[in-house]
Amino acid sequence: MVTDSSYSAERPERILARRSGPLHGEVSVPGAKNAVLKLMAATLLADGHYELSNVPGIADVGTMGELLAAMGVTSRIDPARPDVLLMENTGVITPEAPYDLVERIRASIVVLGPLLARCGVARVSMPGGDDFGKRPIDMHLKGLESLGATFELRRGYIEARTDGLHGADITLDFPSVGATENIVMAAVLAKGPTVIDNAAREPEIADLCAFLNSMGAVIEGMGSPTLYVHGVPQSDLRPVQHAVVPDRVQAATYMAAVAACQGEVLVRGARAEHMEMYLRRLREMGVQSTPQNEGVLVYSDGRRLRSLDVQTLPYPGFATDYKPLVVTLLTVADGVGIVTENLYPGRFRYVEELQRLGADIRTDGHHAVVRGVSSLDGAQVRAPDIRAGAALVVAGLMASGETVISDIHHVDRGYDDLVGRLASLGADIERVR
Ligand code: EPU
Repeated sequence: MVTDSSYSAERPERILARRSGPLHGEVSVPGAKNAVLKLMAATLLADGHYELSNVPGIADVGTMGELLAAMGVTSRIDPARPDVLLMENTGVITPEAPYDLVERIRASIVVLGPLLARCGVARVSMPGGDDFGKRPIDMHLKGLESLGATFELRRGYIEARTDGLHGADITLDFPSVGATENIVMAAVLAKGPTVIDNAAREPEIADLCAFLNSMGAVIEGMGSPTLYVHGVPQSDLRPVQHAVVPDRVQAATYMAAVAACQGEVLVRGARAEHMEMYLRRLREMGVQSTPQNEGVLVYSDGRRLRSLDVQTLPYPGFATDYKPLVVTLLTVADGVGIVTENLYPGRFRYVEELQRLGADIRTDGHHAVVRGVSSLDGAQVRAPDIRAGAALVVAGLMASGETVISDIHHVDRGYDDLVGRLASLGADIERVR
């Protein structure tokens, strides 16, 4: 009996993928989700009109837009340029992030730093866990406390206040992306200098710092483990135009599709220097790449992929967001690969879905042992989160028969027309009801 709720009158869309390849042509990579959401939050810092370009057409941008609108910052897509987001900070800010929006998008916790800096108070719902486990925010709060904020947790909300932020020397226990971003955005308007040691170094953080600097902030050390933020008065900040850094995880997904299906594809906009570890791992598996002015050319000649061991680490290490893609490729590679997850121990839920396609994977704590099989068989699977959903799409392009992926709203949160882009390369894939 079919009990799936999607067989109701309003069936949600699914992705139908069939074995495909070789892929050919070029695909453009939009701006990064994990950059644009933070840039949007940073507009809380100064009044006026902003123009963000290279903005991905993803659901999370809409959700962040709703959250900011509730606070007094409006956003709309420029009708003439669909990748351009026009934002206006009206100057009347309500420093509150309600539960129903924070729950939908965990990245909304990054409004805490700018709200404190701008308004001196903030009331932000506690973000919940994710499908891949607990995601605490203790480092965000500790860092902001060092800058002079105090917090109370009341009825599921973080109530924050400060009599004025001041610079501080902060050493993070772990290079947390979100904590680094919150502290930087608060420190921009703090009195005096702030030093953040063991800061996260992701390209999206460098993009945020570049955006803040063009607004009038003074941040040094971008891309290094130590960030120096020299606080400025709020009157020094102004709204700006900015192009969002290309999405290295979307780029990695198209590259994984080439690895899975063979072929030769120019991933336009991909920046090889942001993806060195990933490209190195692909090469070890037998997938070649050449950086070009316009992007990265990726080619795979049909020989069986080789297995390897890989562990996730903060940037410039191998990103946890790439991991489901590599696990998927290892399912059909020659040999046994051991994948170790060092950031989110619970981020292996999609393994059960890959097993439904015939993959031979065993997990033990934060390790997965992947024994390559000769081929996957299509089946119905469910996308448990954004990146795992994309990896299941790639698996569907390798599997015999048909693979139907449901819960694709997760994929839409972070991918800008994944299906259309893959189809344009020759993949046999469509969205169906
Ligand atoms: N952590 C703490 N305490 C904190 C903050 C983090 O213990 O106060 C732990 C987390 O539980 C996790 C590790 O530190 O084990 C890393 O967390 P981090 O703060 O670096 O991650 P994040 O800011 O919550 C961002 C991305 C994730 C990406 C991670 C790691 C956004 C919106 N999200 O999350 O992206 O996996 O960095 O690179 O930027 C995705 O795009 O699908 C996604 C999940």
